[in-house]
Amino acid sequence: MTYLRRMQMSSSAGSVHVAVLGLGYVGCVSAACLAELGNRVTGIDRDQNKVSNVLNGMAPFFEPGLEQLVRENVAARRLTASTSLDAIQDADVALVCVGTPSEKNGNLGLDQLRRVVHDVAATLEARRKPLVVAIRSTVFPGTCEEIVLPLLNGSGLVSVVSNPEFLREGVAVKDFMEPSLLVVGGGDPEAVRLVASLYSPLPVTACLVSLRTAEMIKYACNAFHAVKISFANEIGALSARLNVDPGEVMATLCEDKKLNVSPTYLRPGFAFGGSCLPKDLRALTYRASRLDLRLPLLESALPSNVQHLQRAIDAVLELPARRLGVIGLAFKENTDDLRESPVVSLLEQLIGKGRQVRIYDPHIRLDAIYGSNRNFILQQIPHIGRLLDNSAEQLLEWCDHVVVAQKMPPDLASHVTRSGRPVTDLVGPALAYVAGPVPASVL
Ligand SMILES: NC(=O)c1ccc[n+]([C@@H]2O[C@H](COP(=O)([O-])OP(=O)(O)OC[C@H]3O[C@@H](n4cnc5c(N)ncnc54)[C@H](O)[C@@H]3O)[C@@H](O)[C@H]2O)c1
Repeated sequence: MTYLRRMQMSSSAGSVHVAVLGLGYVGCVSAACLAELGNRVTGIDRDQNKVSNVLNGMAPFFEPGLEQLVRENVAARRLTASTSLDAIQDADVALVCVGTPSEKNGNLGLDQLRRVVHDVAATLEARRKPLVVAIRSTVFPGTCEEIVLPLLNGSGLVSVVSNPEFLREGVAVKDFMEPSLLVVGGGDPEAVRLVASLYSPLPVTACLVSLRTAEMIKYACNAFHAVKISFANEIGALSARLNVDPGEVMATLCEDKKLNVSPTYLRPGFAFGGSCLPKDLRALTYRASRLDLRLPLLESALPSNVQHLQRAIDAVLELPARRLGVIGLAFKENTDDLRESPVVSLLEQLIGKGRQVRIYDPHIRLDAIYGSNRNFILQQIPHIGRLLDNSAEQLLEWCDHVVVAQKMPPDLASHVTRSGRPVTDLVGPALAYVAGPVPASVL
């Protein structure tokens, strides 16, 4: 008896009939593993070869551990396969695992998805029991709402959830059974719970999120992985060129679980600044260029930051406000360091475009800052002294719109709320100032 079977027997997972649509890498692994967890699974694929392989107890491709799972679960009659969608009539969940390959222009190809959902829709007329259509294929945010649901003709028996897959080929069975992440998104709590319950024997806590977040998270994860690999390779390449051991550098970097390998700095918010990050990135990329080493990822960090700052500035410039009260001047909270503060660039543009601005920062008193810090601000905004308020009261009384450019302590935040002034928050994770309508043709 496998350890998984023991886990499954000791769990409360019930037997659900799952139709897995598409028996490729994701679908076949999901089908075999869900059967191993005690569910009744029918794998459906238009490729007769893959279906025959499964029916004969064989994996349609090589993936460590898969063939044994297929063989045992077909023998135990928990797993079967078909080229026909008939089996879906009795299914509780249709797990859609068809391919979404790249089109020539890089766009995501949704032909297989449209086709298979269209085929599911055709079975709905004869249907008597509810069906949860769970999209496991990687699709762009909005696909479930804008493509899948309309194709299902708003049938009252059908709910749609997003349940992205995170497995890695080569360790796919292990990744399924020991998931790094489990995400189920949707607006129908019962449907979300049913899909999450399929995985309940596994050692993972399901993240239950909105439909669009579930779709986006897969892209966020893959982009993050790609950026991590490129980062390690660029730091490694520069280290090697400088006769420093790349492996030792990155291993030491990973020792820091507080700032480096942690959620720190992984929250959307305002642009970065300060006396270290921009300076050190410039020095690193300049040194690399002198060594004839191109480091596109590291070279793009400062331009990316400038773009992000400009989005914030553009949003503030568009505000229908006459008197803008900016909270925060230093590059972050709890410091009076003004060097390379993104707020200074924000103010320069606001003032340059003729906006009326006043500023309050709980830690900035012009008479108390000196040295390079003082020189920097007086060089950038020589009349800064006339724009600074000494108290939040002063600022809030004067302004008709608050721009939050620094994380506020709770008392200041409640002060701002009580003032009743409209607020544009540049530092909160919602990035509400960037949000806009999605063009209809985006999918
Ligand atoms: N391969 C991975 O490592 C991986 C990991 C995570 C997510 N994903 C995503 O999962 C999805 C599936 O990836 P894959 O690698 O398994 O794809 P795949 O191409 O290996 O498999 C897709 C299967 O769907 C079948 N199919 C297509 N249209 C069908 C239809 N109308 N009816 C029945 N079967 C149909 C195809 O015959 C094929 O067997 C993609 O969106 C992919 O981006 C893949």
